[in-house]
Amino acid sequence: MGASHVEILARQGATVVFGDVDVDAGRDAEDRLRDNGLDVRFQRLDVASSQDWTDVVHVVREAGGLHVLINNAGVVDTRGAEDTGEGDWARVIDVNQKGVYLALRTLVPVIRDSGGGSIVNVSSVYGLVGAVGYIAYTASKGAVTLMTKSAAATYGPDGIRVNSIHPGAIQTPMLEHELAGLPAGARDGFLEATPLRRFGDPAEVSACVLFLASDESSFVTGAELVVDGGLIAAR
Ligand SMILES: NC(=O)c1ccc[n+]([C@@H]2O[C@H](COP(=O)([O-])OP(=O)(O)OC[C@H]3O[C@@H](n4cnc5c(N)ncnc54)[C@H](O)[C@@H]3O)[C@@H](O)[C@H]2O)c1
Repeated sequence: MGASHVEILARQGATVVFGDVDVDAGRDAEDRLRDNGLDVRFQRLDVASSQDWTDVVHVVREAGGLHVLINNAGVVDTRGAEDTGEGDWARVIDVNQKGVYLALRTLVPVIRDSGGGSIVNVSSVYGLVGAVGYIAYTASKGAVTLMTKSAAATYGPDGIRVNSIHPGAIQTPMLEHELAGLPAGARDGFLEATPLRRFGDPAEVSACVLFLASDESSFVTGAELVVDGGLIAAR
């Protein structure tokens, strides 16, 4: 989904700096988008590393400032507490939760210096409702939901809006990885539980990210935007 978000923002004319631990995939995306005339820059980034975020600060300051921050990187784990080791727990919390904290800590000052802007944190429907299993994932995504509201309250006076996005089942490599960790029939189960009876396309989430990033949502902050084909409305 991150590549799709990068593309939609760059197509609006933004200079987009994006990061990932997967350097090959990042460079491939950078080449493809630049070939399409878009102004994008890939930077290796482990969102759980404070040193990596410090490096990002230099890159975005060189790029002329920062008005939009999308915290999208994430990992999923479908297991419940009894099957989740402490190392697995720490990995999910480090990437999904600590990653957002480090992003705020290092980049809010740059956004403030740039005159304000918009932050979009990618949570999940599992940051709003529980699920069978998913103990570390729901812990991390529930945290992102409330960290978003605290950040909205804290940085609103600086002209910085902060909102969260809550995707349901979106067709990406993560969804395939997730389904592989669930019992047979989970795919059909998700589809039956989704009123629109299909998985979402990454571009459908990117359109919502663009709305929250743009001035079209200028009086929206601390809000939860659910993009799930009705999945949790029907629960
Ligand atoms: N796909 C879904 O159905 C779904 C549903 C709800 C929420 N989400 C959330 O949407 C976001 C994007 O998910 P996706 O489906 O595109 O997943 P994905 O697994 O397809 O992509 C996630 C990306 O994050 C990168 N990443 C992992 N750990 C990282 C780290 N420490 N630092 C930097 N990058 C790292 C991976 O290399 C990968 O490129 C995640 O936060 C995920 O939790 C996805």
